Amino acid sequence: MVKPLSYVAGISPYVPGKPLKELERELGISGSIKLASNENPLGPSPKALAAISEYLKDPSELGRYPDASGFYLKNALCDRLNAYGVAGGAKLFPENIILGNGSNELLTIAVRTFMTHKDEAVMGAPSFVVYSISVNSVGGQMIQVPLVEYRHDLAKMAESINENTKIVFIANPNNPTGAANERRDFAEFLDNIPESVLVVMDEAYYEYAFDPEYPQVVRDFWGKREFLVLRTFSKAYGLAGLRIGYGIASEGVIAEMNKIREPFNTNALAQYAALHALDDKDHLDRSISVNAEGRDYLYKEFESAGINYVPTQANFIYLPLGEDSKKAYDELLKKGVIVRPVGPKEIRVTIGLPEENRRFMDAFRDVFKKI
Ligand SMILES: Cc1ncc(COP(=O)(O)O)c(C=O)c1O
Repeated sequence: MVKPLSYVAGISPYVPGKPLKELERELGISGSIKLASNENPLGPSPKALAAISEYLKDPSELGRYPDASGFYLKNALCDRLNAYGVAGGAKLFPENIILGNGSNELLTIAVRTFMTHKDEAVMGAPSFVVYSISVNSVGGQMIQVPLVEYRHDLAKMAESINENTKIVFIANPNNPTGAANERRDFAEFLDNIPESVLVVMDEAYYEYAFDPEYPQVVRDFWGKREFLVLRTFSKAYGLAGLRIGYGIASEGVIAEMNKIREPFNTNALAQYAALHALDDKDHLDRSISVNAEGRDYLYKEFESAGINYVPTQANFIYLPLGEDSKKAYDELLKKGVIVRPVGPKEIRVTIGLPEENRRFMDAFRDVFKKI
Protein backbone atom coordinates (compact mmCIF):
# COMPACT_ATOMS: atom_id res chain seq x y z
CA MET A 1 0.00 0.00 0.00
CA VAL A 2 1.14 3.53 -0.70
CA LYS A 3 2.05 5.14 2.62
CA PRO A 4 1.61 8.82 3.46
CA LEU A 5 4.39 10.75 5.16
CA SER A 6 4.34 9.94 8.87
CA TYR A 7 3.37 13.50 9.82
CA VAL A 8 0.50 13.48 7.32
CA ALA A 9 -0.76 10.18 8.73
CA GLY A 10 -0.90 11.84 12.14
CA ILE A 11 -3.13 14.76 11.08
CA SER A 12 -6.70 14.86 12.41
CA PRO A 13 -8.72 16.03 9.42
CA TYR A 14 -10.66 19.29 9.55
CA VAL A 15 -14.28 18.59 10.44
CA PRO A 16 -16.58 21.18 8.88
CA GLY A 17 -19.95 22.15 10.37
CA LYS A 18 -22.57 19.56 9.50
CA PRO A 19 -24.39 20.52 6.27
CA LEU A 20 -28.14 21.23 6.63
CA LYS A 21 -29.13 18.83 3.87
CA GLU A 22 -27.13 16.00 5.45
CA LEU A 23 -28.85 16.47 8.81
CA GLU A 24 -32.30 16.62 7.21
CA ARG A 25 -31.58 13.49 5.16
CA GLU A 26 -30.38 11.60 8.25
CA LEU A 27 -33.25 12.61 10.50
CA GLY A 28 -35.98 12.87 7.86
CA ILE A 29 -36.76 16.44 9.01
CA SER A 30 -37.03 19.79 7.26
CA GLY A 31 -36.71 23.44 8.26
CA SER A 32 -33.52 22.95 10.24
CA ILE A 33 -31.06 25.81 10.81
CA LYS A 34 -27.28 25.96 10.68
CA LEU A 35 -25.38 28.20 13.07
CA ALA A 36 -22.12 26.32 12.80
CA SER A 37 -19.67 27.93 10.38
CA ASN A 38 -19.73 31.67 11.11
CA GLU A 39 -21.23 32.57 7.76
CA ASN A 40 -23.16 35.80 7.22
CA PRO A 41 -26.86 35.00 7.81
CA LEU A 42 -27.84 37.73 5.32
CA GLY A 43 -25.85 35.96 2.60
CA PRO A 44 -23.98 37.80 -0.16
CA SER A 45 -24.28 41.52 -0.79
CA PRO A 46 -26.99 42.36 -3.34
CA LYS A 47 -24.37 44.33 -5.30
CA ALA A 48 -22.17 41.23 -5.51
CA LEU A 49 -25.15 39.15 -6.68
CA ALA A 50 -26.06 41.72 -9.34
CA ALA A 51 -22.43 41.75 -10.49
CA ILE A 52 -22.43 37.96 -10.82
CA SER A 53 -25.59 38.08 -12.99
CA GLU A 54 -24.04 40.80 -15.12
CA TYR A 55 -20.84 38.78 -15.50
CA LEU A 56 -22.74 35.69 -16.61
CA LYS A 57 -24.38 37.61 -19.48
CA ASP A 58 -21.19 37.00 -21.41
CA PRO A 59 -20.54 33.32 -20.68
CA SER A 60 -17.48 33.26 -22.93
CA GLU A 61 -15.60 34.87 -20.05
CA LEU A 62 -16.07 31.70 -17.99
CA GLY A 63 -14.35 29.72 -20.72
CA ARG A 64 -11.16 31.65 -20.07
CA TYR A 65 -8.76 31.48 -17.16
CA PRO A 66 -9.29 34.16 -14.54
CA ASP A 67 -6.95 37.13 -14.13
CA ALA A 68 -4.02 35.53 -12.31
CA SER A 69 -2.86 38.92 -11.06
CA GLY A 70 -6.27 39.87 -9.59
CA PHE A 71 -5.58 43.38 -10.94
CA TYR A 72 -8.91 45.08 -10.24
CA LEU A 73 -9.55 43.52 -6.84
CA LYS A 74 -6.01 44.18 -5.56
CA ASN A 75 -6.20 47.81 -6.69
CA ALA A 76 -9.61 48.25 -5.06
CA LEU A 77 -8.31 46.72 -1.82
CA CYS A 78 -5.29 49.05 -1.83
CA ASP A 79 -7.51 52.09 -2.39
CA ARG A 80 -9.67 50.98 0.53
CA LEU A 81 -6.77 50.28 2.87
CA ASN A 82 -4.94 53.50 2.00
CA ALA A 83 -8.10 55.58 2.46
CA TYR A 84 -8.69 53.97 5.85
CA GLY A 85 -5.14 54.79 6.90
CA VAL A 86 -1.87 52.91 7.22
CA ALA A 87 0.32 53.34 10.31
CA GLY A 88 3.19 55.77 9.86
CA GLY A 89 1.50 57.31 6.82
CA ALA A 90 2.76 54.43 4.65
CA LYS A 91 1.01 53.51 1.42
CA LEU A 92 0.06 50.04 0.21
CA PHE A 93 0.41 48.87 -3.39
CA PRO A 94 -0.94 45.82 -5.25
CA GLU A 95 2.47 44.23 -4.62
CA ASN A 96 1.52 44.18 -0.93
CA ILE A 97 -1.56 42.02 -1.60
CA ILE A 98 -2.03 38.31 -2.33
CA LEU A 99 -5.42 36.79 -3.14
CA GLY A 100 -6.36 33.33 -1.90
CA ASN A 101 -9.02 30.68 -2.38
CA GLY A 102 -10.29 31.73 1.01
CA SER A 103 -7.82 33.03 3.59
CA ASN A 104 -7.44 29.35 4.45
CA GLU A 105 -5.36 28.80 1.35
CA LEU A 106 -3.09 31.70 2.30
CA LEU A 107 -2.37 30.06 5.65
CA THR A 108 -1.14 26.94 3.93
CA ILE A 109 0.85 28.95 1.38
CA ALA A 110 2.52 30.90 4.20
CA VAL A 111 3.50 27.69 5.97
CA ARG A 112 4.86 26.11 2.81
CA THR A 113 6.80 29.29 1.98
CA PHE A 114 8.41 29.87 5.36
CA MET A 115 8.63 26.54 7.26
CA THR A 116 10.04 23.06 6.95
CA HIS A 117 9.84 20.01 9.20
CA LYS A 118 12.80 21.41 11.13
CA ASP A 119 10.94 24.55 12.15
CA GLU A 120 8.41 25.61 14.75
CA ALA A 121 5.27 27.69 14.73
CA VAL A 122 3.72 29.25 17.82
CA MET A 123 -0.06 29.49 18.14
CA GLY A 124 -2.76 29.84 20.78
CA ALA A 125 -4.78 26.90 22.12
CA PRO A 126 -7.56 26.68 21.30
CA SER A 127 -7.37 28.66 18.10
CA PHE A 128 -8.28 28.18 14.43
CA VAL A 129 -7.60 24.52 13.65
CA VAL A 130 -6.22 25.15 10.18
CA TYR A 131 -3.02 26.58 11.75
CA SER A 132 -2.13 23.20 13.19
CA ILE A 133 -3.22 21.28 10.10
CA SER A 134 -1.02 23.50 7.90
CA VAL A 135 2.01 23.18 10.17
CA ASN A 136 1.53 19.42 10.42
CA SER A 137 1.28 19.17 6.65
CA VAL A 138 4.97 20.12 6.37
CA GLY A 139 5.97 18.12 9.44
CA GLY A 140 6.69 21.31 11.43
CA GLN A 141 6.48 21.51 15.21
CA MET A 142 3.58 23.27 16.85
CA ILE A 143 4.08 25.17 20.06
CA GLN A 144 0.59 25.65 21.45
CA VAL A 145 0.24 28.27 24.15
CA PRO A 146 -2.95 28.09 26.23
CA LEU A 147 -5.21 31.14 26.06
CA VAL A 148 -5.70 33.27 29.15
CA GLU A 149 -9.25 34.48 29.67
CA TYR A 150 -10.04 33.19 26.17
CA ARG A 151 -7.43 35.52 24.56
CA HIS A 152 -3.92 34.90 23.30
CA ASP A 153 -1.30 35.00 26.02
CA LEU A 154 1.06 37.19 24.02
CA ALA A 155 3.75 37.32 26.70
CA LYS A 156 3.95 33.50 26.85
CA MET A 157 3.82 33.29 23.08
CA ALA A 158 6.81 35.66 22.84
CA GLU A 159 8.67 33.56 25.45
CA SER A 160 8.03 30.40 23.40
CA ILE A 161 9.96 31.73 20.44
CA ASN A 162 13.43 30.29 19.78
CA GLU A 163 15.85 30.12 16.87
CA ASN A 164 13.68 27.49 15.14
CA THR A 165 10.49 29.56 15.23
CA LYS A 166 9.40 30.76 11.80
CA ILE A 167 5.75 31.78 12.26
CA VAL A 168 3.48 33.02 15.04
CA PHE A 169 -0.25 32.73 14.36
CA ILE A 170 -2.65 35.10 16.08
CA ALA A 171 -6.37 35.07 15.33
CA ASN A 172 -7.79 38.37 16.49
CA PRO A 173 -10.67 38.02 17.30
CA ASN A 174 -9.87 34.43 18.11
CA ASN A 175 -11.84 31.48 16.73
CA PRO A 176 -13.41 29.63 18.56
CA THR A 177 -13.56 31.91 21.62
CA GLY A 178 -14.54 35.20 19.94
CA ALA A 179 -12.40 37.24 22.38
CA ALA A 180 -9.83 39.72 21.08
CA ASN A 181 -6.51 41.06 22.32
CA GLU A 182 -6.35 44.82 22.74
CA ARG A 183 -3.96 47.29 21.16
CA ARG A 184 -1.90 47.70 24.33
CA ASP A 185 -1.35 43.90 24.61
CA PHE A 186 0.73 44.07 21.45
CA ALA A 187 3.12 46.88 22.40
CA GLU A 188 5.63 44.73 24.24
CA PHE A 189 4.94 41.62 22.18
CA LEU A 190 5.90 43.29 18.91
CA ASP A 191 9.19 44.54 20.38
CA ASN A 192 10.07 41.04 21.60
CA ILE A 193 9.70 39.06 18.39
CA PRO A 194 12.86 38.51 16.30
CA GLU A 195 12.82 40.00 12.80
CA SER A 196 13.18 36.52 11.30
CA VAL A 197 9.72 35.45 12.54
CA LEU A 198 6.61 36.10 10.45
CA VAL A 199 3.67 37.26 12.56
CA VAL A 200 0.46 36.06 10.88
CA MET A 201 -2.40 38.20 12.12
CA ASP A 202 -5.63 36.58 11.13
CA GLU A 203 -8.30 39.27 11.00
CA ALA A 204 -11.06 37.09 9.52
CA TYR A 205 -13.65 38.71 11.82
CA TYR A 206 -12.25 42.24 12.18
CA GLU A 207 -15.34 43.91 10.69
CA TYR A 208 -17.41 42.74 13.66
CA ALA A 209 -15.00 43.86 16.39
CA PHE A 210 -16.47 46.87 18.17
CA ASP A 211 -14.17 47.35 21.17
CA PRO A 212 -12.47 50.76 20.64
CA GLU A 213 -9.24 49.11 21.90
CA TYR A 214 -9.37 46.46 19.16
CA PRO A 215 -6.25 46.86 16.98
CA GLN A 216 -6.08 46.49 13.21
CA VAL A 217 -2.54 45.71 12.11
CA VAL A 218 -2.46 47.86 8.98
CA ARG A 219 -3.88 50.92 10.68
CA ASP A 220 -2.07 50.53 14.01
CA PHE A 221 1.18 48.57 13.60
CA TRP A 222 2.22 48.61 9.95
CA GLY A 223 5.96 49.07 9.53
CA LYS A 224 6.80 47.95 13.07
CA ARG A 225 7.87 44.52 11.83
CA GLU A 226 7.10 41.84 9.22
CA PHE A 227 3.41 40.84 9.24
CA LEU A 228 1.10 38.79 7.11
CA VAL A 229 -2.42 40.10 7.74
CA LEU A 230 -5.18 37.78 6.58
CA ARG A 231 -8.72 38.85 5.79
CA THR A 232 -11.64 37.23 4.06
CA PHE A 233 -14.81 37.83 2.08
CA SER A 234 -16.36 34.72 3.70
CA LYS A 235 -17.68 36.35 6.86
CA ALA A 236 -19.00 39.94 6.92
CA TYR A 237 -19.16 40.02 3.09
CA GLY A 238 -21.16 36.80 2.87
CA LEU A 239 -19.18 35.15 0.05
CA ALA A 240 -18.02 31.97 1.83
CA GLY A 241 -19.19 29.73 -1.01
CA LEU A 242 -17.11 31.57 -3.60
CA ARG A 243 -13.86 31.17 -1.61
CA ILE A 244 -11.95 34.39 -1.64
CA GLY A 245 -9.69 36.05 0.91
CA TYR A 246 -6.56 38.20 0.85
CA GLY A 247 -3.27 38.72 2.59
CA ILE A 248 -1.40 41.98 3.18
CA ALA A 249 2.36 41.93 3.74
CA SER A 250 5.64 43.46 2.60
CA GLU A 251 6.45 43.17 -1.09
CA GLY A 252 9.13 40.61 -0.21
CA VAL A 253 6.81 38.28 1.73
CA ILE A 254 4.14 38.49 -0.98
CA ALA A 255 6.69 37.83 -3.76
CA GLU A 256 7.89 34.66 -2.00
CA MET A 257 4.36 33.41 -1.35
CA ASN A 258 3.44 34.08 -5.00
CA LYS A 259 6.15 31.68 -6.13
CA ILE A 260 4.21 28.72 -4.78
CA ARG A 261 0.66 30.09 -5.19
CA GLU A 262 -1.18 28.14 -7.85
CA PRO A 263 -1.48 30.64 -10.75
CA PHE A 264 -5.28 30.69 -11.06
CA ASN A 265 -6.13 30.08 -7.40
CA THR A 266 -8.99 32.59 -7.20
CA ASN A 267 -11.76 32.14 -9.72
CA ALA A 268 -13.17 34.83 -11.97
CA LEU A 269 -16.61 35.02 -10.34
CA ALA A 270 -15.11 35.26 -6.88
CA GLN A 271 -12.82 38.12 -7.88
CA TYR A 272 -15.68 39.98 -9.57
CA ALA A 273 -18.15 39.41 -6.74
CA ALA A 274 -15.59 40.49 -4.12
CA LEU A 275 -14.82 43.67 -6.07
CA HIS A 276 -18.50 44.64 -6.01
CA ALA A 277 -19.10 43.44 -2.44
CA LEU A 278 -16.41 45.92 -1.35
CA ASP A 279 -18.62 48.73 -2.68
CA ASP A 280 -21.70 47.57 -0.80
CA LYS A 281 -21.34 49.53 2.40
CA ASP A 282 -25.07 49.22 3.14
CA HIS A 283 -24.86 45.44 3.19
CA LEU A 284 -21.76 45.48 5.35
CA ASP A 285 -23.39 47.89 7.81
CA ARG A 286 -26.57 45.78 7.88
CA SER A 287 -24.52 42.63 8.46
CA ILE A 288 -22.73 44.23 11.40
CA SER A 289 -25.94 45.57 12.95
CA VAL A 290 -27.84 42.27 12.53
CA ASN A 291 -24.90 40.64 14.30
CA ALA A 292 -24.92 43.21 17.12
CA GLU A 293 -28.66 42.80 17.68
CA GLY A 294 -28.36 39.02 17.68
CA ARG A 295 -25.44 39.18 20.08
CA ASP A 296 -27.36 41.35 22.56
CA TYR A 297 -30.43 39.12 22.31
CA LEU A 298 -28.41 35.96 22.93
CA TYR A 299 -26.47 37.50 25.85
CA LYS A 300 -29.74 38.43 27.53
CA GLU A 301 -31.22 35.01 26.94
CA PHE A 302 -28.11 33.21 28.20
CA GLU A 303 -28.07 35.36 31.30
CA SER A 304 -31.71 34.72 32.08
CA ALA A 305 -31.21 30.96 31.56
CA GLY A 306 -28.03 30.91 33.69
CA ILE A 307 -25.82 29.78 30.80
CA ASN A 308 -22.16 30.69 30.86
CA TYR A 309 -20.95 32.44 27.67
CA VAL A 310 -17.83 34.26 26.54
CA PRO A 311 -18.44 37.84 25.32
CA THR A 312 -17.55 38.05 21.64
CA GLN A 313 -15.96 40.54 19.26
CA ALA A 314 -16.97 38.36 16.29
CA ASN A 315 -20.11 36.79 14.80
CA PHE A 316 -20.21 33.72 17.05
CA ILE A 317 -20.38 32.94 20.75
CA TYR A 318 -18.35 30.37 22.67
CA LEU A 319 -20.24 28.38 25.29
CA PRO A 320 -18.10 26.49 27.81
CA LEU A 321 -20.84 24.11 28.88
CA GLY A 322 -18.62 21.57 30.59
CA GLU A 323 -19.46 17.87 30.64
CA ASP A 324 -22.87 18.48 29.07
CA SER A 325 -21.49 19.94 25.91
CA LYS A 326 -21.56 16.82 23.71
CA LYS A 327 -25.04 15.93 24.85
CA ALA A 328 -26.29 19.46 24.21
CA TYR A 329 -24.84 19.33 20.67
CA ASP A 330 -26.51 15.98 19.93
CA GLU A 331 -29.85 17.05 21.37
CA LEU A 332 -29.80 20.30 19.42
CA LEU A 333 -29.15 18.32 16.24
CA LYS A 334 -32.24 16.21 16.90
CA LYS A 335 -34.20 19.46 17.07
CA GLY A 336 -32.80 20.55 13.69
CA VAL A 337 -30.33 23.08 15.11
CA ILE A 338 -26.72 22.69 13.98
CA VAL A 339 -24.07 24.36 16.12
CA ARG A 340 -20.38 23.48 16.34
CA PRO A 341 -18.67 21.32 18.94
CA VAL A 342 -15.29 23.04 19.32
CA GLY A 343 -13.77 21.15 22.23
CA PRO A 344 -14.57 18.37 24.68
CA LYS A 345 -16.59 20.77 26.83
CA GLU A 346 -17.46 23.62 24.53
CA ILE A 347 -19.78 24.49 21.70
CA ARG A 348 -19.78 27.54 19.46
CA VAL A 349 -22.89 29.12 18.01
CA THR A 350 -22.90 31.48 15.05
CA ILE A 351 -25.10 34.55 15.52
CA GLY A 352 -27.91 34.28 13.00
CA LEU A 353 -31.01 36.16 11.88
CA PRO A 354 -33.45 37.11 14.67
CA GLU A 355 -35.73 34.15 13.90
CA GLU A 356 -32.77 31.75 13.84
CA ASN A 357 -31.50 33.06 17.16
CA ARG A 358 -34.96 32.61 18.68
CA ARG A 359 -35.25 29.11 17.25
CA PHE A 360 -31.80 28.23 18.62
CA MET A 361 -32.63 29.69 22.02
CA ASP A 362 -35.97 27.83 22.28
CA ALA A 363 -34.25 24.55 21.44
CA PHE A 364 -31.30 25.29 23.67
CA ARG A 365 -33.44 26.18 26.69
CA ASP A 366 -35.34 22.96 26.21
CA VAL A 367 -32.17 20.88 25.93
CA PHE A 368 -30.53 22.67 28.83
CA LYS A 369 -33.48 21.96 31.10
CA LYS A 370 -33.14 18.23 30.42
CA ILE A 371 -29.37 17.86 30.89
C1 LIG B 1 -9.89 32.63 12.27
C2 LIG B 1 -10.21 32.18 10.88
N1 LIG B 1 -9.31 32.38 9.92
C3 LIG B 1 -9.53 32.00 8.67
C4 LIG B 1 -10.72 31.39 8.31
C5 LIG B 1 -10.85 30.92 6.91
O1 LIG B 1 -11.80 31.59 6.19
P1 LIG B 1 -11.86 31.51 4.61
O2 LIG B 1 -10.94 30.46 4.14
O3 LIG B 1 -13.27 31.22 4.30
O4 LIG B 1 -11.42 32.88 4.14
C6 LIG B 1 -11.69 31.15 9.27
C7 LIG B 1 -12.92 30.44 8.90
O5 LIG B 1 -13.71 30.00 9.69
C8 LIG B 1 -11.43 31.55 10.59
O6 LIG B 1 -12.32 31.32 11.57
